[in-house]
Amino acid sequence: MAKVLEVKDLATYFFTADGVVKAVDGISYHVDEGESIAIVGESGCGKSVSALSVMRLVASPPGRTVHGEVVFEGQDILKLSESEMRHVRGNRIGMVFQEPMTSLNPVLSIGYQLTESLMLHLGMTRVDARERAGELLNLVGIPDAERRLKDYPHQFSGGMRQRVMIALALSCNPKIIIADEPTTALDVTIQAQVLEVMKSLADEFGTALIMITHNLGVVARYAQRVIVMYAGKIIESGSAKQIYGDPRHPYTLGLLKSVPRLDESRKEKLDPIEGLPPLLINLPAACSFAPRCKYAIDKCRSEVPQLEMATDGHVSACFRSKELAQLAKAHA
Ligand SMILES: Nc1ncnc2c1ncn2[C@@H]1O[C@H](COP(=O)(O)OP(=O)(O)O)[C@@H](O)[C@H]1O
Ligand SMILES: [Mg+2]
Repeated sequence: MAKVLEVKDLATYFFTADGVVKAVDGISYHVDEGESIAIVGESGCGKSVSALSVMRLVASPPGRTVHGEVVFEGQDILKLSESEMRHVRGNRIGMVFQEPMTSLNPVLSIGYQLTESLMLHLGMTRVDARERAGELLNLVGIPDAERRLKDYPHQFSGGMRQRVMIALALSCNPKIIIADEPTTALDVTIQAQVLEVMKSLADEFGTALIMITHNLGVVARYAQRVIVMYAGKIIESGSAKQIYGDPRHPYTLGLLKSVPRLDESRKEKLDPIEGLPPLLINLPAACSFAPRCKYAIDKCRSEVPQLEMATDGHVSACFRSKELAQLAKAHA
């Protein structure tokens, strides 16, 4: 399977008066053509900054990508000129953000925005673009699509606006879409509907998908692989089946217990992880999760665990990875 995106040892820091915030600290992952992956972790773990780093949209100063490569279609896009990068952003990599009102222009109709995007990115004529705009709105499941082209963003509900954003992201026929918590503000049923639309269109168009979320419950059935981030690092990754069925990091286990799952009837009660993720300044050379971990031992507080293979295609950065299933059982 060809890789559409390969992120290698990417690090982005913020240089602030209080110190260096290591928001993303050496992460590596890849996405295959047409594959859907999820990046999960609590708020403040570096998910958005990692996505913005890939798009080269981190505010600088104070932010700077200090090392790493982002190989997209065989090219390190961190080395492109700003105008080449604009082309990648508009045409090759689409984005959907949490708050569509900030990405949609409030004073232009949806039809105008879609049409302009299609003309600009795909070189369509206005007539063709207008027709395609209607088709796209229809594809993302907006009722009465043709007629709604003349409506403005505020005339759509939150869920419908998110669908418009997906249509806009798809309008340039990108190789990959990065969706950063696109449905977080919506209720769970609408979240599932929006994700469903995004996933089925991505499959239909052969678009790869990176879904960023703090909710390991909702992404379950839409991602083939899951990457778990904590304190700026990847602490576990594997196929969705491995992550949900055989988690190898106490943090992942905690995330699984703290969210309602769509793919499971409610048997166990929710059990949120106590405490908060650390500030990413002056982190000690230790496991960042140790202060919140039920299973931490001395070694966890004095050494940084590296990602190691648990099973084929499944890695975790925990000294107690192998015993975790037993420990969790004993603890339950
Ligand atoms: N402009 C900034 N200046 C300083 N720190 C920042 C800035 N933007 C983000 N950060 C820090 O980077 C870390 C990761 O943030 P973010 O990627 O937004 O987390 P997530 O998306 O996982 O919630 C946080 O600790 C946040 O405070
Ligand atoms: Mg975020």
